Amino acid sequence: MRTILVLNAKGGCGKSTIATNLASYFAFEMGKKVLLADYDPQESSLAWLQARDESWPLIEGVAAYKKPLRVAKDTDYVIMDAPARVHGKELTQLMRKVETVIFPVLPSPIDMRAATKYIEEVKKNGRVTRKEVKIGVVANRVRENTVIFSELYDFIKAMKLPYVATLRDTQNYIRAEDRGIGIFEMAPSQVYQDLEDWQPLTKWLRSKRSMPQL
Ligand SMILES: Nc1ncnc2c1ncn2[C@@H]1O[C@H](COP(=O)(O)OP(=O)(O)OP(=O)(O)O)[C@@H](O)[C@H]1O
Ligand SMILES: [Mg+2]
Repeated sequence: MRTILVLNAKGGCGKSTIATNLASYFAFEMGKKVLLADYDPQESSLAWLQARDESWPLIEGVAAYKKPLRVAKDTDYVIMDAPARVHGKELTQLMRKVETVIFPVLPSPIDMRAATKYIEEVKKNGRVTRKEVKIGVVANRVRENTVIFSELYDFIKAMKLPYVATLRDTQNYIRAEDRGIGIFEMAPSQVYQDLEDWQPLTKWLRSKRSMPQL
């Protein structure tokens, strides 16, 4: 079993979008048994699951913010969708069983500033200092060839964490979200650019580079 947490203290940076698309990737593309654990009382991930038609591969959902997480033995992937503003004890609790953290950042000065502070806090987490957790950064809602994207690129490099993928800003995520599916489950002709965007991220997740070396 593999546990992946999508985390950033900033609201609206794409945590739920990445968590739901990851769940779709592992269930649809890889045929895996996926549990989507929603730690946010807003229940964005659970709302996405509710919109999901039964004809799509099953993804189990759990309101993990309400009760301790119980995972069936045959589960392949647990995808954890974190709420915004997780600090202190709550952060420690959330990190307890995680092997990989995906850290989405938006190309905006406010988000970049907030991310700098937050990542320092995350790096101090015991499991991170003991190298029990790998963190990868994903630039989200990017418009290429913009000044702010080049600033974001430099900013991520300076964080000294693996820069895993760049996801463009597109309505495709909103269309998918509406239907309870991921971009992987949309017509490839419509989402081929986004499938390309996700390739480095899914490759990283399948490789040892995203796993802690214990
Ligand atoms: N790459 C993208 N292109 C276009 N829209 C996007 C993209 N990523 C996310 N969005 C949209 O941005 C909004 C915020 O995204 P999302 O809900 O995933 O963020 P979040 O970090 O989970 O927010 P919160 O902290 O409130 O839980 C959503 O409406 C989502 O559809
Ligand atoms: Mg969310």
